[in-house]
This record gives sequence, structure tokens and C-alpha cells, in this order.
Amino acid sequence: MKKFDLAGRHALVTGGAQGLGAGMAAALAEAGAAVMIGDVQEGKGRDTAGGLAATGAKTGFTRLDVTSEADWASAVAATIATLGGFDILINNAGIEVTALVADIEPESVRRMLDVNILGTALGMKHAFRAMRPGGAAGKGGAVVNVSSVAATIAFPSIAAYSATKSAVDRLTRVGAAEAGRLGYGVRVNCIYPGLVATEMGLKLATDIVALGLAADVNAAVGDVVAQTPLGRLGNVEDMADAAVFLCTDAARFITGIGLPVDGGMGS
Ligand SMILES: NC(=O)c1ccc[n+]([C@@H]2O[C@H](COP(=O)([O-])OP(=O)(O)OC[C@H]3O[C@@H](n4cnc5c(N)ncnc54)[C@H](O)[C@@H]3O)[C@@H](O)[C@H]2O)c1
Repeated sequence: MKKFDLAGRHALVTGGAQGLGAGMAAALAEAGAAVMIGDVQEGKGRDTAGGLAATGAKTGFTRLDVTSEADWASAVAATIATLGGFDILINNAGIEVTALVADIEPESVRRMLDVNILGTALGMKHAFRAMRPGGAAGKGGAVVNVSSVAATIAFPSIAAYSATKSAVDRLTRVGAAEAGRLGYGVRVNCIYPGLVATEMGLKLATDIVALGLAADVNAAVGDVVAQTPLGRLGNVEDMADAAVFLCTDAARFITGIGLPVDGGMGS
């Protein structure tokens, strides 16, 4: 038996070429949704979509830089044309640049603001316009934004990143309030993933060592595990299942929340 049922739904996953996004795309497809991968990495994104197609999923790839309004317009159009609809957006694309507050560089902060905040905001904008009554897809839907446990704790070396992920939390709540009150038929929620050993997660662990905050990568990971009541790092499937749940009808009365998926680290 399937864990979740999203048969007949049509999803766009940003940053879906690798890591958490690729895992969320696979989990959506496993639940029966048609899935479009949107990413700036064209080769990898096409390969990831090809892997989903090999399992029998209806899928495609669209080149999407989430900071570009023009890219959003074409990605939504491509999703509707390829999949036959658009009712799920996973706003997952994000970047992280590690720095102590004393060493913050304006250009790194601007890049994170652009991708993590503007990218998420534009995703909600284009999803709302397409999904609301009268929109190009017009059947309502669900948006899941990917925040971070970093929005709920004070973790040294990621101050600016944490600030952008706190912003994702607020974007989620205001977006949910507007979508609900204005009758868009779109639910908006976010998840706060704990540390996962993706490319981004592993880079953070090595950065922490380079900054002298941990003796080696094992110690860096050990510190996180020690702060996690469930006693392990999260994995891609943990995050994917939570995101898929928020898209299903089982979550039909849930909007405007942030769901920690962190083994209790942020509680
Ligand atoms: N890995 C973790 O420990 C962790 C924890 C909490 C939250 N997160 C969040 O989860 C999300 C995914 O992280 P990940 O670990 O899979 O990272 P990752 O670096 O492995 O993958 C990120 C993906 O986003 C894409 N991307 C980057 N900039 C983009 C842009 N402008 N437009 C479109 N795509 C873009 C990349 O090409 C890549 O495919 C991010 O938002 C991240 O902040 C990750």
C-alpha cells in the first residue's frame, strides 16, 4: 500500500535536481503525482527527471532560476503544458553560505536573500496566480516552502542563512492568510528540516570545522546528533514524507504552519 495518495495532482519542485528536492520529487511521484523538476542545473535536472520517468511517472524538466520572474512565468507554463495542470509547488531551492557574524560578506548575504527569500516569494506569487480561480491552472492547491531548523534555533556560523529561513517562515504565514481569506483554494505551509547529509549539509559540516567550531566533521555531526532527542541526523526521506503529507488531503485543514522535521532538535 502507498504511504500517500496524490494521484491526479501536478507538482513543480524547485531545486529538484539533487538533494532534498530530488527526494521530494521522487516521493511525490511515488504517491502518484506528475512532477516537474525546476532547477538551474540543467544536466542534473534532466537526469533526475529521467530517473522519475523510468519509474513510470509523468515528469519533465524546466530550467528555473527562482530569482527570475521570467523563469517563473515560463516554468509555470511548462508545468501546465507538460503535466496537464499545476496544483502543488514545493519551494525548495535554497543556498547556504557559512560565515561568523564577524566575517559576514555583503555579497554572500545578498545572494542568500535573493535565492532564499525572493525566490520563495516569487514562487508563491506565481503559484497563487496560476492556481487561484480563473488562473491558468485554476483548481487551487498546496504550496510547501522549505525553511530550516535554523529558523528555530541559534546555530553558530549561519546567522544570515538563519535570517533568510526565518523570512521563509513569515512568507509562509502571510501567504497562507492571504490565500485563505481571498479564496484562492491554496494552502501554504513550510517545513523546518534538521541537518541532512546532502551536498549542502556536508559542506556546512566541513565549514564548521574550518571555522574552528568543531575538531572534525565527525565531531560537528556528533554535536548536532547530541542536540537531537531522536538521536540521529535526518535523511532525505524524512523530509520528503513531511512535504508530501502537507500536500495531501489528510492535511486539508492545515495552512500557515511550520512543521519541524528535525528529530526534536528545535523544540
Ligand atoms: N541539507 C540540510 O541539512 C538542510 C537543512 C535545512 C534546510 N535545508 C534546505 O533544504 C533545501 C534543499 O537543500 P539541499 O540540502 O537539498 O541543498 P543542495 O545544495 O544539495 O541542493 C539545492 C538545489 O537547489 C538548486 N538551486 C540553487 N539555487 C537555485 C536557484 N536560484 N534556482 C533554482 N534552483 C536553485 C541547486 O542547483 C540544487 O539542485 C534548501 O532550501 C536548504 O536551505 C537543507
